[in-house]
Formats: sequence, C-alpha cells, structure tokens
Amino acid sequence: MNEGIIGIFDSGLGGLSVMKAIRKVLPQENLVYIGDCRHAPYGEQTPEFITDRVLKISDFLISHKAKAIVIACNTATAAAIDTLRSRISLPVIGVEPALKPAIKETASDTVGVMATSRTIESARYEKLIRTFNPDNKIKVISVKCIGLMECVEKGDWDSETTRSLVEKYTLPFKEAGADFVVLGCTHYPFLKKQIGQQLGPHVRLYDPSPAVAREVRNRLTKNNALRSSGEGKESFFISGLTENNKAVLNLLWGEACQVTDLNI
Ligand code: DGL
Repeated sequence: MNEGIIGIFDSGLGGLSVMKAIRKVLPQENLVYIGDCRHAPYGEQTPEFITDRVLKISDFLISHKAKAIVIACNTATAAAIDTLRSRISLPVIGVEPALKPAIKETASDTVGVMATSRTIESARYEKLIRTFNPDNKIKVISVKCIGLMECVEKGDWDSETTRSLVEKYTLPFKEAGADFVVLGCTHYPFLKKQIGQQLGPHVRLYDPSPAVAREVRNRLTKNNALRSSGEGKESFFISGLTENNKAVLNLLWGEACQVTDLNI
C-alpha cells in the first residue's frame, strides 16, 4: 500500500497549485496528476456531468494503484466528493473555499470569495457559509469569476483580457472594503500577483493548497501509508492534450514534464 500513488486531479491545470504544495510536504511520494482539459471548464457544467467525470477519473487513478485521491478542484469537490466517498474506501481529500480562516481573521468584517459559478451555487458552499458565519455577522461577497480559469489554461496571465477580468471581479471587494479574499478555485493562485496588484497589499489573499497538502500527509500518516524512503516521481495525464496546454503545464510546474494524452 505504501508504494501506491497519490492521485491528484482537476478540470485542467489549476490543480497543479495543490500538487506543488503536496510535493513540498511529501517529497518521497509518487504523484499522478490528471488535468481534464477536454472537459473544462467544470465551472459551467452540470453537477451530474462533473460527478460522471470525477468517477471516471477516480477509476483511472485506482487502476494506477492510488492510495489516496485528491480532488484538486473546488468545483468538483462541491459537486461530487460525497458521491465519490460513498463509493470507495480510499482517503478522498477535497478543496473548498477557505471561509473558516477568512471569517476568523478579517478585521473589516468583510471577506471576498472568488470561485466558479458551480461552486458558488452549490449546496456545499451554502452549508460552508452557514457553518462558519451562522449569524451573518461577517459580510461574505461571493464573485463568480467566469472566464478566469481559461486565462490560466491558455498561459495568458499577463494579457490585457486577464487584467481587465481581474479588475472587474475584484471591484466588489474593493468597494466593500474586504481585507481578506479567498482564492476559491485552484487556478487562481497562479494569478495571485495580478489579483494582489488590483487589491493592494493590505488585502490578504488566501490559497488553501498548503492546508490541503498537510491534510493529505495527515491522512496517509494515520493510515500508515507513507513511503519511508526514495525520491518521489511525477506523472502527468491530460485529456485533450495539445502543444499549448503541454507548454503551460511545463511553465506552471516549473520544469519539462513527461505528459500522456488521456482518453477516458
Ligand atoms: N480549478 C477548478 C476549481 O478549483 C475549476 C475551474 C473550472 O473548471 O471551472 O474550482
């Protein structure tokens, strides 16, 4: 079991932000990443469609001897983590907008959340808000950032289009005086600089990836399933592989990767 892989997936390349954090805390583990680029964005798909993709991808990871599955996508977590957990006995770790630290740490009593439409409309998101902001003392501004994941997928992080989208989506936070903005989509940490430039240094941008990585380590430690020696390797599978998404993957991961076209 200890030799199994940690399977990590997202609708595209955004989940690499989570995988990088996992690599930092678990240098000995073998990691398999799946970017479901052919079916992205999940943020504009139905929950049924997303659940179907999550189950197919998980089957693939299990056939590659996964010992844990990380849904490195807020949208897929919101749509399908309960279904997946009810079907398999492996640890399944998801990513959710980090409302807990935001609500605890805001000094302006106003926080912002940037996420996809599907995440913000989900029952899980509504429950998160009810859990951490039960008496509505904190103002939570949720912005559906349509089109922003595509800027990351295309490697388009510094273009005029990206800058104006970021400006538009951060405006409600500026107007309301939010001092804490949650990056509720795994693509957005790759736009942290651009988002930070719009909001200014007094606004804290929260990327949940390090907390997710620690959770992965804790779950595997508890199961006594960590590798004890050796250097971990990475494998990458992309559905709808193109020269462009391969080049962006290399840029985001930080080195040339061995990538396989995925047909599921
Ligand atoms: N990276 C995904 C997330 O964390 C979503 C992007 C998309 O496919 O819309 O929500």
